[in-house]
Amino acid sequence: MDFGKIAKKILAKSTVKPNIALILGSGLGYLTEQFEDAVSVNYREINAFPQSTVEGHKGRFVIGRLNGRDVIAMDGRFHYYEGHSLQDVVKPIYIFKEMGVEHLIVTNAAGGVNRSFVPGDIVAITDVINLGFSNPLVGPNRKEYGARFPDMSSVINKRWLEVVINNSKRVNIDLKQGTYIFVTGPSYETPAEIKAYENFGADMVGMSTVPELIAASHCKLNILAFSCITNMASGILEKKLDHQEVVATAQKVRSKFSKVVTIALNALKEEKL
Ligand code: HPA
Repeated sequence: MDFGKIAKKILAKSTVKPNIALILGSGLGYLTEQFEDAVSVNYREINAFPQSTVEGHKGRFVIGRLNGRDVIAMDGRFHYYEGHSLQDVVKPIYIFKEMGVEHLIVTNAAGGVNRSFVPGDIVAITDVINLGFSNPLVGPNRKEYGARFPDMSSVINKRWLEVVINNSKRVNIDLKQGTYIFVTGPSYETPAEIKAYENFGADMVGMSTVPELIAASHCKLNILAFSCITNMASGILEKKLDHQEVVATAQKVRSKFSKVVTIALNALKEEKL
């Protein structure tokens, strides 16, 4: 796939030249409502692009200005559980790269595995575990983007994260930190699985983000990622899990989530990253 050609086609619709990309998870797409000079491009308009099928995910790119920064957002992402290949799931990352994007902020809804978390918490992802049993980089390596065996020892940009943690504290946002484990879904986990993931060192569990972070590490983007704890993971509370609850909790923490993303954008001005 010619990612450069697709990038050009999308950019031609706007005067904005995005340097930062945002991937917005379940119930978090509302951030694009705050964009100035917003132009949206439906995934449908892009040939050979997978289509997003999940409720709460719109399926469009939105280009615009947020906090004075030129940004592009994915309002709705692709998930492996929808039947897309991992290689399809990460296509937008390479399109961002071709647009000249250098910074990536990924958000998701996740189940809390760490028992000190509560629904509504926002957790900065410090590391990830890929339990997808495959990898989006399987296949011929596109060496114009990165190495065959990319380093994964520092997926998250530590300097950027440090500024975000400090600046969040200053405005009384209690940003937690943790390791995110990626599972394929679409069924939620069993209590036994959650116990196992707890032993693996996971603090939260979800069905997205890690494929994108692998591809973004491959092509050397500066990465931050945040989980909204929408529910405690299976077996932690005497409660069944339900997608409506996930979306509802994500919606409740809208304003806190927007503040964290704003802090992350502003941190880029402060720090030369
Ligand atoms: N498990 C997996 N994915 C999720 C969860 C969960 O409990 N909550 C939100 N996404």
